[in-house]
Amino acid sequence: MNQPATEKINAHTKLCAVFGFPVRHSASPDFQNEGFRALNLNWRYVACEVEPNTLRSAIEGAKALGFVGVNLTVPHKMLAMDMVDVLDESAKKWGAVNTISFQSKNSHGIWESRGISNATGKEVRVCGFNTDADAILRSITEDLELDLSGKSVLVLGAGGAGRVAVLKLAEAKVSRLYLVNRTQSKIVELEAEIKRDFPGVMVEKGYPANKIDLVLNATSLGLKAEDTLPFDPDRFDLQKAGSAYDMIYNPGETPFLKMARSHGLKAANGVGMLLYQGAKAFEIWTGRPAPLAEMRKALLARIYGTDTLS
Ligand code: ATR
Repeated sequence: MNQPATEKINAHTKLCAVFGFPVRHSASPDFQNEGFRALNLNWRYVACEVEPNTLRSAIEGAKALGFVGVNLTVPHKMLAMDMVDVLDESAKKWGAVNTISFQSKNSHGIWESRGISNATGKEVRVCGFNTDADAILRSITEDLELDLSGKSVLVLGAGGAGRVAVLKLAEAKVSRLYLVNRTQSKIVELEAEIKRDFPGVMVEKGYPANKIDLVLNATSLGLKAEDTLPFDPDRFDLQKAGSAYDMIYNPGETPFLKMARSHGLKAANGVGMLLYQGAKAFEIWTGRPAPLAEMRKALLARIYGTDTLS
């Protein structure tokens, strides 16, 4: 009887990896391998600790070894911008690469992932994508069941993740954005960027006076038990918001999300962002729809020890 292709690693096994520093906390191998297993693909995904000064040679090495694709995590995403042969529009737009696809030409001369069986050309190019930005929007939309068009949103934080979230929300045609950040200069820059690129979106610095649809935490406050709330409760009443999203997913419920739920807000954490950025990378490499239910289950089991999130 034939064994399922995923049962053992053999001479046909195709490889993907995540490069990061540090990387041992990564949940990506757990849910990517579950995706391969669910589609009966003889592929494996491993985590490689790659220091920033060896990133270029690690990418070259993966190319030479026949890897299909690589995810990049902290601190590599911006560094990799000039280490690939081609930047997909997504990477150009966000100025960061979180997914690399090693591509060859197919029989029609079109570049394709070399994980796809008819991409058999000898020449290999390294293509950089960004799947993070779309994942933020998808997670908010699907996990909170919130269509963002025309909505008003308070974003807490204007670091790397906050900036991308704010620009993605503007692109999704929210009507009004309120921006709060400890370092004011970042808000000033971001406000100017929105006014220039998305003139239809009203943008204000500071907390809203009226009711809003969503409050989004993009700060790192909540990662540590001793952290304060990411907003000033004397200046903003959470009950003014319809729903709350925290980009932090570990802990699964930050004090911010706990407070939001206790006030009756619909709430979600950032685990969906992790899932959707990985699912998109999976699709870029395999050319097949990601088995989301199985991947989600594996991700939740790895992070929370349960396959559902209450
Ligand atoms: P990331 O790439 O995850 O967004 P980051 O760019 O370092 O990481 O951004 C962290 C965010 O959390 C920033 O908005 C940061 O505020 P500053 O821009 O003022 O640094 C915010 N943050 C981190 N620690 C904070 C603290 N103790 N109080 C308030 N905001 C904090």
